[in-house]
Amino acid sequence: MTRRSFESRRSFETRRSFETQGPEATEELARRLSAVLLPGAVVTLDGDLGAGKTTFVRGLAAGLGCRDAVSSPTFARMHVYAAGARELELIHLDAWSARAGLAVLGDGALEALEGGADGRSIAAVEWAERLGPWLPAPRIAVRLEHVAEELRRVRIEVVAAPGAPPAAADLLPGLEAAVRALPTEFAGARELA
Ligand SMILES: Nc1ncnc2c1ncn2[C@@H]1O[C@H](COP(=O)(O)OP(=O)(O)O)[C@@H](O)[C@H]1O
Ligand SMILES: [Mg+2]
Repeated sequence: MTRRSFESRRSFETRRSFETQGPEATEELARRLSAVLLPGAVVTLDGDLGAGKTTFVRGLAAGLGCRDAVSSPTFARMHVYAAGARELELIHLDAWSARAGLAVLGDGALEALEGGADGRSIAAVEWAERLGPWLPAPRIAVRLEHVAEELRRVRIEVVAAPGAPPAAADLLPGLEAAVRALPTEFAGARELA
C-alpha cells in the first residue's frame, strides 16, 4: 500500500481559525477555499457528528462548479462529483470505517488520496482522523467544532510531511497559497485571533 507520509512526521505550516454563523457561512468559506485549489489537493475534515463536515464539502463542491447535490457518503463511502468549471472531479470520502486501513474504502479511495488516476481530482475526506497512519500529506486539514446552535469554529491548516515524495511535496505551495488567500472576514464569518 502506498502512502505519502507518516503522520508522526507531520509539521504544521499555515493555520487559520474562523468562526462561522450558520451553514451558509461555512459553505462560503469552503467555496472560497476550493476556488483556488489545484488538482491533487486533499482536504480532510474532522469534527463531531453535525459539526459541519458535509456542509463544508458542499461548499467545496460549489466552488469547483459541481452541479449535483452533495450528500453524506456514509454508506457508499465514496461519492464522485464532476466539477464542470475546471474539468476536475471532487471525490468525497467517508473514512468512518477506515480504522483498519485504507483498503476498506476501496481502490478508488487510495487513488483519490493520491490526486486521482489522472491527477484531475480533489479529495474531501470526512472522519479523516480514522485513517491514522494512512492520512495523506501534504493536505489541508479542517477541524469543525460546535460552539452553539448556529455557530461553528473552523480551523484550517496545511499539514506538510517532511520527506514526502517529490510529487506530493510539489502540492504544498498551492495548498499554502489557497489557505493564505482566504479573507479574514465575510458575511457570517470572521477570522479568530
Ligand atoms: N455555522 C454552521 N456551519 C455548518 N453547519 C451548521 C452551522 N450552523 C448550523 N449548522 C447545521 O449543522 C448541521 C451540520 O451537518 P453536517 O454538515 O451534515 O455535519 P457532519 O457532516 O459534520 O456530520 C447542518 O444541519 C447545518 O445546517
Ligand atoms: Mg457528514
